[in-house]
Order: sequence, then structure tokens, then C-alpha cells
Amino acid sequence: MGRKTFYLETFGCQMNVHDSEKVVGTLLAQGYEQVDSPEEADLILYNTCSVREKAEQKVYSRLQQFRREAGAGKVFGVLGCVAQQEGERIFERAPHVALVCGSASYRRLPELLARIEAGERRVTGLELDTDETFETPLTRRDNPYRAYVTIIEGCDKHCTFCVVPFTRGRERSRPSESIMREVRDLAAAGYTEIQLLGQNVSSYRDPSPAGWDFVTLLEQVARVPGLRRVRFTTSHPREFDRRIVRAIEENPVLANHVHLPVQSGSDRVLERMQRQYTRAEYLEKIEWIKSARRPIAISTDIIVGFPGETEEDFQQTLSLLDEVGYDSVFSFKYSPRPNTAALTLDGHLPDEEKGRRLAILQEKQRAIQLRRNSQWIGRTVEVLVESFNPGTGQWVGRTSENRVVNFTCPEGVKESLAGRYVHVHVTRAGPNSLAGELAA
Ligand code: 5AD
Ligand code: SF4
Repeated sequence: MGRKTFYLETFGCQMNVHDSEKVVGTLLAQGYEQVDSPEEADLILYNTCSVREKAEQKVYSRLQQFRREAGAGKVFGVLGCVAQQEGERIFERAPHVALVCGSASYRRLPELLARIEAGERRVTGLELDTDETFETPLTRRDNPYRAYVTIIEGCDKHCTFCVVPFTRGRERSRPSESIMREVRDLAAAGYTEIQLLGQNVSSYRDPSPAGWDFVTLLEQVARVPGLRRVRFTTSHPREFDRRIVRAIEENPVLANHVHLPVQSGSDRVLERMQRQYTRAEYLEKIEWIKSARRPIAISTDIIVGFPGETEEDFQQTLSLLDEVGYDSVFSFKYSPRPNTAALTLDGHLPDEEKGRRLAILQEKQRAIQLRRNSQWIGRTVEVLVESFNPGTGQWVGRTSENRVVNFTCPEGVKESLAGRYVHVHVTRAGPNSLAGELAA
């Protein structure tokens, strides 16, 4: 018999994408081989997100699609947030599923798979009360230049719209030595950009005797030789501390970008969301960022149509967009999530109204971004080149601010630029990207 093969499909956020990289690393270490289609695979896994969309529906429809093949000895598994949220209900709705495992239990994957091989029909890993973080000796990375590094998992906040505390469990910080070892190994392997990941990175607390806080960790990571850019996501405004801005000012390796989700511009809505800050407190932190010695790009997440959001509340969110002048905004219609406190609030809005508000907000932000991006025309920016787009004949890269830059090269330049840092002269700007030419 040949090697066991697996197929893994991932839905959702960067944490999920990185979890999948770790799952792949774990399975490769177990002797599995990764294949590109479910048809070729012995083991078919879906790593799912349930933060917003009705992801569970998407997963069930995928499972349905391949149901007929289950008889042919294939093993189906559901991982991630939907697994954690739906638990054993998945077996009822999709009886051919053999494995249901949430992210807090991924360390047990080899054991769970061995039990299936030994003949068990259904196995689960659904514990949330773990102190472990998921570390794998071998992690395969999807991007050859930028690597994700988890520093904290789970979340102890109680934002009333959010399912994460139920799907990813309590906050667990990873020991600093382990983070530093991974970062040094990545730098030695040629990675120049690191993105530190966690639901709430700013509440990082080193559990080892060194006792580093997030700022110390940032400073230490940024000093690792070979690294050119260090990013981090996501920070909660409540713990976002002025020292983070100082650290960025002092070390140019810390990228010129902060993602600070605000969710709403209305104090009344922020209160109902239990975000633990007011608009004014949030704006004070934005001022720290804006008054830094080096310009720092600011992005955010916004939810429109939260239960009870009035037209006036919504207008306050729109005015916040003007006041801050974000470089990019991820905006979403409120979506009711299982177990969350917001489900029981009154004033749920019809979907069309949420859609209307979302469209207005996105159009406004598009104009803001176009204006902000246009200020870069005529300037030269440094980009980390990621890929070549044969369709447009342009290279694609990102600035330290995380802006996408599409650019062309003079005829003479034939060698691959991927992975290199180059200077680009910006000649055009759109709402979502800049365009230009390789600078001499
Ligand atoms: N509905 C809509 N958006 C949500 N988010 C989290 N939960 C919900 C929900 N129930 C958004 C928030 C968060 C981002 C990751 O997803 O804006 O910051
Ligand atoms: Fe969810 Fe709030 Fe935690 Fe972010 S901080 S993961 S929105 S509960």
C-alpha cells in the first residue's frame, strides 16, 4: 500500500490559515502525503471558521458533495471553529464524518487519527479547558517570505457578538523562549517578514519566568538578525498601550501598520457590544499612533447593523471613518452567532437594512482610501515583492504599511524579483492598491 494521503481545505481568518499550516506539518510528520483534491485523498479535512458567515452550512454542503465517496474507505474530518461550535451534532447531520476536532485539541490529532485507523467510527477532540498552545515541530508555510507565528491563543473578552471565546477557549500565551526559537529558525530559513498572531496580541503575558509583556516581545522579535518586517494582529483597543507606538518608532523593523478594530463609532453600541472603551478613549489611542515620528497606517474592523443600532449610531460610525481616515477597513454585517449574548438583545435589524448600511459605509471608505492612496503618487516606496501577475505583466508586492503595489519593470530586468525588497516609483493610485514602476 502507498502512503496515506490527505486533503485539507481551509475557510476563514489568518489564525485559521496558520492552524492549517500546523495541521499539515503534523500530518506530514505522521507520514501522510498532501494532495490537491478530495478525490485523491484517504483523509478529507475541512478547517472551518464560524466568526461570521453561516460557515457551518458551507461545511455541510461540502460534506454532502463527497458523501457518496465515503463508502470507498475515505475518512472525513471537521476541524476548527465550526467543529468546536457544532461538536457531536456534526455526526448527526453528516453521519459519514469520523473526526470532529477543535483548535484547542490539535495536539491530539495523531492520537485521534490512530484511533480511527484502529477501527473507531467516531472520535472527537473538543476540550477547551487546556493550557496548551498548539506547537508543531514541523510547520509547512504557504508563503515563502512571510511567516505567521502564534503568540497567544483564545480570548478572555466577552464582546457580545463574538463566538471566538466559545470556539477557541481561554487566553493562553506561549512561552517567550518558544516564540523566539521559532522566529530565529524562520529568519535562518530565509524569512524576512514575520506576522505575530493572536486574537488579542496586546494581552500577551509570557508564562515563563522571563515574564515578558507584549511590548518586550515585540522589541525582542524585531531585533532578530535577518528580519526586515515584523507585524502583529490583532490588538484590542482596551490593552493597546502607548509603549507599542514607541516601540514602532524606535525600531524600523516593526512595520508601519497597526490594525485596531473599533467595531462601531457609537458609544451606545460599543456599550452594548461590551467593548470596554468609548469612542473618545479609542480616538486617544489613534492620536498616539498618528503623532508617531514615522507615519503609521491604521486599519480597523467594523460591524454594521448590530442589534439596536439606530440610524444615528450608524452616522457616528460614518463620522468616525472621516475622523480617523483609515487606510483600510474590514466591514461586516452583524451576523447572529450561537451562544453569544447579542442574540438575546432586542432590535435585530432586517438583512436589507444591514446591507444598505454596509454599502454606504463601504462606498464612503472607498473614497477615503482613494484619497489617501493618491497622496503616494510621485513618491517612492519600498516593497517586499510577492509574485508576478502574468495577466497584467506586473509584479505584486506590499509596503511596510501593508499596501498592495503593482509595478512594472524596465525591459532589461529579467530575473525574478520575488522575495526581494525593491523601490517602486508610484504613478497611480486606486482605492485598494498603488501602481508604479521599479525605481532605478
Ligand atoms: N458578526 C459580524 N462580524 C463579526 N465579527 C466578529 N463576530 C462578528 C459577528 N457576529 C468581525 C469583527 C471582528 C472580525 C474578526 O470579525 O469585526 O473584529
Ligand atoms: Fe471576539 Fe472580542 Fe475576543 Fe476579538 S476581543 S476575539 S471580537 S471576543
